[in-house]
Amino acid sequence: MLSQEVIKKLNDQVTKEMFASNLYLSMSSWCFRNRFDGAGQFLFEHAGEESNHAKKLITYLNETDSVVELQSVAKPESNFKSLLDVFEKTYQHELSITQSINDLVSFMLEQKDYSTFNFLQWYVAEQHEEEALFRGIVDKIKLIGEQSNGLYLADQYIKNLSGK
Ligand code: FEO
Repeated sequence: MLSQEVIKKLNDQVTKEMFASNLYLSMSSWCFRNRFDGAGQFLFEHAGEESNHAKKLITYLNETDSVVELQSVAKPESNFKSLLDVFEKTYQHELSITQSINDLVSFMLEQKDYSTFNFLQWYVAEQHEEEALFRGIVDKIKLIGEQSNGLYLADQYIKNLSGK
């Protein structure tokens, strides 16, 4: 049995993961519109991963006989300044998700909810990987440069990250 507070916080995290999924879908479409097909494909796939993060939380709530109360998901932005702007925003977004997971982990420890604390360790490891992944892309775009040849190379580099 989870406490009502824990259930509420996990439901809130579901909304955050769904927002991330929609944000990355929106970014993916911006990339396709601007002929960054590699980045578009990568973000489209990553949106699926975010949706899976939400589903994993929902499964945990279901397994503990908790109420799943889906909430409205805010509208993500759909216009971006550049490919670098897109990935700087993904990275900032991942940092905010990490903060949210860390807050959840601290809360579970305070509450002595060791089962949920243990469940959340998967998210802790995942956030470590995602921060490194998105920071790596930002660094690579900066390194390759934002002239047209550089952007083409950056797009190819991001395409090869699909599925990671
Ligand atoms: Fe579900 Fe990218 O954090």
